[in-house]
Amino acid sequence: MGHHTSEDFTAQWAAHDLGDVVVSAKQVLNRVHELGRQITEDYADNPPLLVGVLKGAINFMADLMRAIELPVEVDFMAVSSYGAATKTSGVVRIVKDLDVDLLDRDVLIVEDVVDSGLTLNYLRQYLGARNPKSLEVCALLLKEGEQRVEQSLKYVGFTIPADFVVGYGLDVNERYRNLDAIYTFTGEV
Ligand code: IMP
Ligand code: MG
Repeated sequence: MGHHTSEDFTAQWAAHDLGDVVVSAKQVLNRVHELGRQITEDYADNPPLLVGVLKGAINFMADLMRAIELPVEVDFMAVSSYGAATKTSGVVRIVKDLDVDLLDRDVLIVEDVVDSGLTLNYLRQYLGARNPKSLEVCALLLKEGEQRVEQSLKYVGFTIPADFVVGYGLDVNERYRNLDAIYTFTGEV
């Protein structure tokens, strides 16, 4: 929180449009490792299929899957929600579907951020219809007080204020995904 620390001040090229550090690179990794340990325990007898939601979850997925000490499988979906750049419309289009069958699988959706919850709500219904044995969610970020759809999230990395954030996979107009920390975005959209 607060001002950029020296370790987060690496992103010179982005600094102009970034506000405060919301979650530092070190905090992200520490928490991802905690989540990995928890998932390792909870799914010890039934290694899950991790379903990442492109593109925002790529950084999170890459770190989380390596923090789970089980023979997990990994697949991705790509969805796009119509609407303005920083607000979801709730209308979700499947851009890339899964390659694997979900029947009797323990499925864990890996999502970058839950804002209104509309995207996740849609995905849950869509994937739930394929009869997985279980279907849970691991979200790195949960926006405080923003949910328009009630969500039960099995794993949450951080609850953050409702501001728009970028970094660690999260973008604005496809930029800033390659930052290691998560920042508020203060630039023009
Ligand atoms: P929701 O449907 O409102 O929950 O929005 C979820 C999707 O919107 C996420 O998967 C992100 O792709 C995007 N999103 C929501 N909030 C942010 C943000 O603060 N930064 C970047 N993307 C966001
Ligand atoms: Mg996303």
